[in-house]
Amino acid sequence: MTSFFMRTIKTFFIRTYGCQMNELDSEIMVGMLEKRGLTRIDDEEMADLIILNTCAIRDLAERKVLGKLGRFGKMKHHRPVIGVTGCMANAKKESLFQKVPMLDFVLGTNNIHELTTVLDEVLSEGKQVHRTDPRFEHELDYTIAKRDDPVKAFVSIIRGCDKFCTYCVVPYTRGPEVSRDPDSIIAECAQLAANGYKEITLLGQNVNSYGKDIPDAKCRFHDLLYRIDKLKGLQRVRFMTSHPVDITKELMEAIRDLPTLCEFVHFPIQCGSNRILRKMHRVYSKEEYLEKVAALREIVPGVALGTDIIVGFPTETDSEFEETMSILEKIEYDTAFIFAYSQRKGTPAMRWKDDIPEDVKQMRHQKCLELQNNITMKRMQSMLGQEVEVLVEEVSERDSSYVKGRTRTWKNVIFQGSANLVGTLQKVTIHSFSNQTAIGNCSSLAPSKPEEREEHKHAAHPLVIKS
Ligand code: SAH
Ligand code: SF4
Ligand code: F3S
Repeated sequence: MTSFFMRTIKTFFIRTYGCQMNELDSEIMVGMLEKRGLTRIDDEEMADLIILNTCAIRDLAERKVLGKLGRFGKMKHHRPVIGVTGCMANAKKESLFQKVPMLDFVLGTNNIHELTTVLDEVLSEGKQVHRTDPRFEHELDYTIAKRDDPVKAFVSIIRGCDKFCTYCVVPYTRGPEVSRDPDSIIAECAQLAANGYKEITLLGQNVNSYGKDIPDAKCRFHDLLYRIDKLKGLQRVRFMTSHPVDITKELMEAIRDLPTLCEFVHFPIQCGSNRILRKMHRVYSKEEYLEKVAALREIVPGVALGTDIIVGFPTETDSEFEETMSILEKIEYDTAFIFAYSQRKGTPAMRWKDDIPEDVKQMRHQKCLELQNNITMKRMQSMLGQEVEVLVEEVSERDSSYVKGRTRTWKNVIFQGSANLVGTLQKVTIHSFSNQTAIGNCSSLAPSKPEEREEHKHAAHPLVIKS
């Protein structure tokens, strides 16, 4: 069976939609396919195998994929094997075969480990195959992931979500929360550090739930962070995403105390009205959320904050929308992703009419974006004249005499420099901005040493914000 497979499929094309969890899942699939001897190519027209690793979070995400699949059906020159993986696979399951008849397989987020066996089945039996388990139950070989980025890596620590926000498909597309064994996470992080990676981002829909479902491991999220911090060679650790209700004092103290742990927390509020928050089943009130912000800013001076916002949730009034605007003004997030509500099949919010007209949603979306852009710029202005620490990630695509990277607080920075700086930490003094990127001069062209990290953690932060 395998030799037939090797003869017929030599190249593959993969396109990733959605969030970082999908990016990591794609890296794992690329690793699996390359291990099978396939070569990745960028030209979808030429590939023997096409995989779309999909997202179902909003209607637009799904429409993009269906549009793309429709175009593949019209390919004249050859007939590639076509597979849909990711969240849409779980959301639509085998009904995708009716929508897209030339589709060969549908592989859900909890079945990635079966990619090559499913391919074998498709090729040997010539039939449509689907696997969409509701729960992540199998150990996945994360070490096989093929990463393009030599500096930063994603590491999955918990899959699924138990929160059931009423608008959201994720609990249905990724299943319940399943924490990964802490020893396996530590081993992967150690391997990444040994391979020269400088930054890791720990991934989960709600990383703060980590460990709850494996009490015998006696390792909660902050315990894991303390263990990772001890690894040699890693400069920075980030995490995403955090549900506000599970942000603990222990986590705040870990951000304050651990040299590797970056001072940036993305913990979405979603909206500023208590009535809508209840309807969304976010299980915190605006006041409770503000208490977390105050505690975080007190324990970690200079911490940068990020959020997601949904506007136009069913029944949201103008004044409730204004409450969201006020909360953005009050908190002054460093970054905010603003979304117009999109009704998703199978979610509890389907029981309410999607009653906010599209033009009203768009107007609210635009108003929020404009407000947040001004706030983001204001936050960035406070960097002017400051010296910040930048982890250099790559040479700028626009001008190869510049390199770009991020501060610990996730701000984009570019400065003059060359490829040999990639993967080093540099001190950069900010002198101006272009859009939302800070531009600076490198004040220390010698890479900073790991032992300097300890000092940095306790030095005055360049972005001290008094709340
Ligand atoms: N687990 C993360 C969010 C993951 S989804 C968390 O709870 O913080 C990323 C964002 O997409 C959500 O925070 C929400 O703002 C947005 N989103 C989810 N479902 C949506 C929907 N049906 N319509 C519009 N935006 C949605
Ligand atoms: Fe979706 Fe809520 Fe889970 Fe985030 S916490 S993934 S918004 S259900
Ligand atoms: Fe999309 Fe699934 Fe991520 S729905 S946002 S790819 S978890």
